[in-house]
Amino acid sequence: MSSQSNRQSVSLSTLNRRKQRGEKFAALTAYDALFAELISTAGIEVILVGDSLGMVLQGHESTLPVTMDDMVYHMNCVRRGNRGSLIMADLPFMSYADEKQSLQSAAALMRAGAHAVKLEGGAWLAESTRMLTERGIPVCAHMGLTPQSINRIGGYRVQGRDPDQAHSMLEEALTLQRAGASLLLLECVPVSLGAEITQALDIPVIGIGAGPETDGQIMVMHDLLGITPPNIKVPKFVKNFLAESATGIPGAFQAYAKAVREKSFPALEHSFV
Ligand code: KIV
Repeated sequence: MSSQSNRQSVSLSTLNRRKQRGEKFAALTAYDALFAELISTAGIEVILVGDSLGMVLQGHESTLPVTMDDMVYHMNCVRRGNRGSLIMADLPFMSYADEKQSLQSAAALMRAGAHAVKLEGGAWLAESTRMLTERGIPVCAHMGLTPQSINRIGGYRVQGRDPDQAHSMLEEALTLQRAGASLLLLECVPVSLGAEITQALDIPVIGIGAGPETDGQIMVMHDLLGITPPNIKVPKFVKNFLAESATGIPGAFQAYAKAVREKSFPALEHSFV
């Protein structure tokens, strides 16, 4: 691994500026130092230490078994490899069930080097979002398909097709923005809803399966490399960038960042209408 500086060069202000200028940005998951270095040197603005590690690294069928210890371990690994990207870390299942627990869990991830934490859910998280933000911890809200609630939702499927559900999602996103959320991640919603929420919010919106209009795009790294675990159906919003790369994994990361910036990814074939 190189001995370059790991000083953060992408900040929330960078992402806000991108949104204001209509310039798209890319995000990707990473769970270890070497991939974090490759991703950040490829110019991908945001790294997510996602609880998807439960599925792609640990072999679980869902993200529910992932613990705070797991997240802190992987957060530390990613911090060592990072070369300037903004690092977000997921608060895992049941680590933010109330406000006090949210503070403790988020503090542990920030001490390990996260620049922001991500919480899955809607308006019920407004108070936690406010408390974290007031105490200096930037929050990324995660709405739409929220994998930690898979047992309640009943399957990995598109959310917000029903007009009432779409309306509540928009209202709840605005509530979280008012509570201080710095970012919103929107997963698996129709293109029109992804566009509507992105336009209505001042904060940057990062999409996965939310169409081409969100301010940023995110993918799970293993999906981008075409190695989705065999027990998981490859989602429609996935593109294997390694398949077309003449320069291996670094080339695949660069091609993804370029495609997002040039707005050629996601195409309609990767989106839900
Ligand atoms: O854990 C994760 O990888 C996520 C995805 C939506 C990017 O939250």
